[in-house]
Amino acid sequence: MSALKGKSIVLGLSGGIAIYKSASLLRRLTHDYACDVTVVMTKSAQAFMTSLIFETFSGKEVITDMFESEKDIVGTRHIDLIQNADLLAVIPATANILGKISAGIADDALSTMLLVAKPEKIVLAPAMNKNMYTNPHVQRNLQQLRDLHYYLIEPETGDLATTQEGWGIGRLPDEKTLLFHLEKVLSTQKKTPLKGKHVLITGGPTREPIDDIRFISNPSSGKMGVALAETAAKLGAEVSYITGPTTLSNPDGCTTQHVVTAAEMKTAVLAQYDKQDMVIMAAAVEDIKPRAPQTGKIKKSTIPEQLLLDKTDDILHILGKQKKDQILIGFSVEIENEIQNSIDKLTSKNLDWIIVNNPQQEGGAFAGDTNQVTMIDKHHESTSLPRLSKEQTAEHIWQYILATKE
Ligand SMILES: Cc1cc2nc3c(=O)[nH]c(=O)nc-3n(C[C@H](O)[C@H](O)[C@H](O)COP(=O)(O)O)c2cc1C
Repeated sequence: MSALKGKSIVLGLSGGIAIYKSASLLRRLTHDYACDVTVVMTKSAQAFMTSLIFETFSGKEVITDMFESEKDIVGTRHIDLIQNADLLAVIPATANILGKISAGIADDALSTMLLVAKPEKIVLAPAMNKNMYTNPHVQRNLQQLRDLHYYLIEPETGDLATTQEGWGIGRLPDEKTLLFHLEKVLSTQKKTPLKGKHVLITGGPTREPIDDIRFISNPSSGKMGVALAETAAKLGAEVSYITGPTTLSNPDGCTTQHVVTAAEMKTAVLAQYDKQDMVIMAAAVEDIKPRAPQTGKIKKSTIPEQLLLDKTDDILHILGKQKKDQILIGFSVEIENEIQNSIDKLTSKNLDWIIVNNPQQEGGAFAGDTNQVTMIDKHHESTSLPRLSKEQTAEHIWQYILATKE
C-alpha cells in the first residue's frame, strides 16, 4: 500500500508560475490517495491562482492569511496544523520562500509554519527561471537547506515557462515525480528496510543487430523493471537500474544506465556486481543473436535465405557462478511446465529466488500493465500472486524478499 494513503499533508503554495501544476497534484493527493490536505498560499501565490480551486479539491478552507479565517479560530492554528501533519510540502517553492526559510524569517502564514515544522518533515520543490536558480544567493540557500536535512525535489532541465526563458534548469518536475518523492519521504519516516543497501535491477529487452537498422528482440516493455526499481528506491535502497531500449522514462530515485545488446548489458551488470547486496535481473535479455551482424543495411536483393544464430552469454548464470554474498533473483519466462523448468533454472544458476511469468497467460508479463507471477525460493517453496498491476506486483515481490531475507 502506498505510504501516501490517508496521510495528513500541508501543501504550501508560493508565487511561482508552476503553481498551475499544484492544483492537479492536490487532486491526486485527495482523490487517489485519500490524503487530508490543508493548503496554505502566500500572498503572491494568490496573484497567480485564486484559492477557490484549492478549496474545492481539498474540501477545506485554504489558509491565505496568518491572522484571518472565515470559518476557523485563528489562535495557534499554525502550530496545531503542523504538529498534526505528516508532511509539509512547498510546491512550487520560490527563490523568495527558500531564502526566507534559510534566513529563519516568518512574516506570513506559510513561512511561519515552515519554522514550526522540523526540517525532516518538510519537502521543498524549487521552481524558477534559470537565472534565478543559478544565482549564487539561491544556490547558497539551497545548499544550506540540504545541509539542514530539508528534502529538496531538484528541478529539471527543460522548456521553461515562457518562450523568452527558453531551455534551462529550474522546471518543476512532473506530477508522477512529485508524488514519487512525497511517497519516498513518507516511506522513509515509516521504514526503510533497504537503507544502505545497494540494489541492481535490470529491465527491458535487448536488441541483437542483424545489420545497422534491423535487429532481433522481444516485446518486453521494461515496466516490471521500472516498478521494481522505484519500489526499492522508496524502501531506501541505492538503486542502479540498467535498461535495454524502451520508451519509458527512467525510474525515479535511481541511477539509470542505458544499454542495447545483451553483451552491453553483461558488461554493465558485471562492472557493478561486486558492490551489490541484491540483484534482480528483470530484463528480457535476448538469448539469441545473429552470428555475423552486417554494417550498413543489407540490400533487399542480397538478403540471405538463412540467418545464422548464436546464443548470447547467460548473464544470470555468470552472476550465479561469481556470487559471494549477493541475493540473486532472476525472472523466468516459460510457456510450458513453468514451475519445474523454473526450479531447474533456479538450481543451475545458483539463484535465491526465481520469479516465473507466462507471457501467454492473460494479463501476464511483457508489454501490458499487469502481471501474474509465481515466486519460488531456494527451498523450492512457491507463492503465486494474483493478477496485479506491475507496481503492486513489485511491492509484493519486495515484501516477500524482505520477509525471508534473513
Ligand atoms: C509572472 C511571474 C512569474 C514568476 N515565477 C516565479 C517562479 O517561477 N519562481 C520564483 O521563484 N519566482 C517567481 N516569480 C517571482 C515571485 O512571485 C516573487 O519573488 C514573489 O515575491 C514570491 O513571493 P512568495 O515567495 O511569498 O510566494 C514570478 C513573478 C511573476 C510576476
